[in-house]
Amino acid sequence: WTDALHCPPGNANNTFVLDPASGNLTMARSVASPVTFLLLVKGEQADRARYSMTQVTVEARAATGGPPRFPQNLYRGFVGLGSGVGVAVKDAAVPSQPLRIQAQDPEFPDLNSAITYRITNDSRFRMDGETVLTATALAQLGAFYAEVEANNTVTLGTATTVVEIEVLEREPPPTGGSLLEGPRFSGTDMAVLGGVLGALLLLALVGLAVLVHQHYGQRLKCCSGKAAEPSGFDNQAFLSDPESNWAPAPNVERGPEP
Ligand SMILES: *[C@@H]1O[C@H](CO)[C@@H](O)[C@H](O)[C@H]1NC(C)=O
Ligand SMILES: *[C@@H]1O[C@H](CO)[C@@H](O)[C@H](O)[C@H]1NC(C)=O
Repeated sequence: WTDALHCPPGNANNTFVLDPASGNLTMARSVASPVTFLLLVKGEQADRARYSMTQVTVEARAATGGPPRFPQNLYRGFVGLGSGVGVAVKDAAVPSQPLRIQAQDPEFPDLNSAITYRITNDSRFRMDGETVLTATALAQLGAFYAEVEANNTVTLGTATTVVEIEVLEREPPPTGGSLLEGPRFSGTDMAVLGGVLGALLLLALVGLAVLVHQHYGQRLKCCSGKAAEPSGFDNQAFLSDPESNWAPAPNVERGPEP
């Protein structure tokens, strides 16, 4: 398909560019005042055998330059002690994910590409887009508070928020967050958890052994040469059934299946 852009009389002609291959519509120049454009777009097969038309309305609005806004005035993240440079601070609420700090433009909440971020007062951290990275190797435990500034490069509005970054001795496993109620747990907690899990595993193994013994104990005795003494109901039933499926299958001597 190829696309052709047709504009109504007026100034729209050089304002928009439609990529012939992708259909991406982009602006080729800025618009000085609020105005609505009506574009007629034609999609045509490369061999021109068939085509289709549609209309596109583009509304150029006056941005009043309202400052961006952070939905939260405090963000919480954590990072492991001894993390090197360039390590992403994780989200305290979702420990498996990097912390994202995102401001929104009040008029264009979906248009975030115009907003840039920086940390104003703590050189140990820096912003990379909407994520916080370590800027130095962290050697001190504790909670640090840094100010994040959002700057809308189009409207020039700014906003600030605060991020709390807890430097922990050991990073919790990514999936442990909900089970262990967040990243605040110690080596002792881990040891207790390991002990409990070990005890549960042992109990499960003992239970399994008892079940196996109850279900297969008789058959095991048969196989070890005591089948000649009929002693129980199960054994009687077994003796009356020569086709019992514990016997070797007749085809067991055959070579391996292809
Ligand atoms: C369309 O434009 C956007 C924004 O410039 C770009 O990210 C995307 O890759 C383009 N798509 C194609 C198919 O060219
Ligand atoms: C950075 O600024 C924020 C907000 O004013 C403040 O809470 C925080 O203590 C400051 N951090 C440092 C390291 O100065």
